Amino acid sequence: MESINSLKNKYMELKNAAEVKMMGKNYPAAMKLIEQATAILKQIYDMDHNPTNREAYKVAMESLRKSYELAKNGGEEVLTYDQPKKPKPVKKPAQPSAKPEQGGAGEPDEDGIIYEWNGIDVKRFLATEARKKVLFDDVVGMEQQKTIIRNEFFLTDEQRAYKQSIGLENKNFILLYGLPGTGKTYFAMAVSNELAKFSGGDVPFFCVSCGQIKEAAVGKSENNLIAIFQFTTQFERCVLFMDEFDAIATDRGKNSGDPTAIPVVNTLLTNLDGFASNPNLLFLAATNYPYVLDAAIVSRVNESLEVPLPTEELLKMTLERKLKGAIDPSVDLGSIAATLARRRFSNRDLDRFVKSVKSQLFDAHLKNPDISVADNVMVQECLGRASSAITTKDVNALEEYKRSLM
Ligand SMILES: Nc1ncnc2c1ncn2[C@@H]1O[C@H](COP(=O)(O)OP(=O)(O)OP(=O)(O)O)[C@@H](O)[C@H]1O
Ligand SMILES: [Mg+2]
Repeated sequence: MESINSLKNKYMELKNAAEVKMMGKNYPAAMKLIEQATAILKQIYDMDHNPTNREAYKVAMESLRKSYELAKNGGEEVLTYDQPKKPKPVKKPAQPSAKPEQGGAGEPDEDGIIYEWNGIDVKRFLATEARKKVLFDDVVGMEQQKTIIRNEFFLTDEQRAYKQSIGLENKNFILLYGLPGTGKTYFAMAVSNELAKFSGGDVPFFCVSCGQIKEAAVGKSENNLIAIFQFTTQFERCVLFMDEFDAIATDRGKNSGDPTAIPVVNTLLTNLDGFASNPNLLFLAATNYPYVLDAAIVSRVNESLEVPLPTEELLKMTLERKLKGAIDPSVDLGSIAATLARRRFSNRDLDRFVKSVKSQLFDAHLKNPDISVADNVMVQECLGRASSAITTKDVNALEEYKRSLM
C-alpha cells in the first residue's frame, strides 16, 4: 500500500497542476485534476487517524470543492458572505518539501504540527523575542503603520468579505525599513501580540532572525528557508516575520563574494510566491538596508513602510512615559527631546539615555534616600554623555534610497 507521504506528494502535484490549469483558464483540465486530487485526499483521510490532521483534510477538501465550482463556473467566482472562513487553529495538511528528493517532512508532534523538514528542526529558528509583551499602545507614534496592519489583518469576517467583494487586494508582503534602533522589531512584536489578542491565539506569529538561516555549507541555507516556509504554510492563517531580511535577500547581482547568495534569493522568491498567493498568510520583513535587497524581491513587496527616527514630539512623549515617576516635574523634557532629536536619537538610543538617568538617580538615592526623582542637574549630566549610534553614512544612504523611490 502506498504511504501517506507519497500520497501527499501526489495530492500536492495534482493540486498544483490544477492551479496551473486554472491560471491558464483551461477549466476542463483543471476539473479533471481536482477530481483526481480529491480522490487521493479521500484515501489520505481514510488512512490517517490523527484527529487534527483529519480536520485539516476536511478543510482542504472544502477548498478543492470550491476550486471545482470555480472551474465549473468558467473561473467566475461566486461570492458568498460566509467566506472567507473564520480564523481557526486548524493546520493544513502537510505539504511535500520543495526538494522532495532530500527527505521531506518529519512526523507531526502531539499538537499535529510538523516541525521537521529535511531533518531540520524549525523550532530553532523561532525567536523567543516574539513573546515580548508589547502592544500597539506601547509603541509610541507609528500610527500610519498601525492602521495599515490593522486594515490588512485585524478584520472581522464581514470586513474581510466586504474587502473581497469590492476587489481590494490583500497586501500580504509588508516590508519595514529604517535606521538601527528605530523600532522595527519592537513594532513587529506588538503586531504579534495584538494579533494574538485579536484572534484569541488562532493566528500564530512566527519570528525568524534571518542571520540564523545563513550557513556556509552549500545548500544548507536554502534548506533552512524551505523548512521555515513549509512549516508556516501548515497553518490556515499565520504571520511570518523575517527580521534582518537583508541577511538573505541581498541583490543577486552584487553578491559575487558569497556563493550561497544567489541560490538563497532564488529559493526565497519561489517560496515567497507560494506564501503570498495565500491571502490568509502575512509576510512581514524588516531591514536596515532596503537598498541592498534584490530587485525581484522588492518588486513583490505590497507595502513598504518606513520606521523613521522619532520626531521631537515623539521623543518627548516617550521620555514622559519612560521616566514617569522618576523625574522632577520641573525638568523641561521638551527641550531635552529637542536636543535628542537634533542629535538624531533612535528609540534604542533613547532607551539608553533613560536607563542612564535612572541609574544616576539610583546612585543618588543610595547616598541620600530623600532623593527619589532625577533633577535637572542629573538629567543634563546624562545628556552630556549621551550619544546616538546612528551614523551619517547610514542616514545618507537611506535618504538616497528614499529619493530613488520618488
Ligand atoms: N515606537 C516606540 N515606542 C517606544 N519605544 C520604542 C519604540 N520603538 C522602539 N522602542 C524601543 O527601542 C528599542 C529598540 O527597538 P528595536 O530593537 O525594535 O529597533 P530595530 O529598528 O529593530 O533596530 P535594528 O535595526 O537594529 O534591528 C526597543 O526595545 C524599545 O524599547
Ligand atoms: Mg531589529
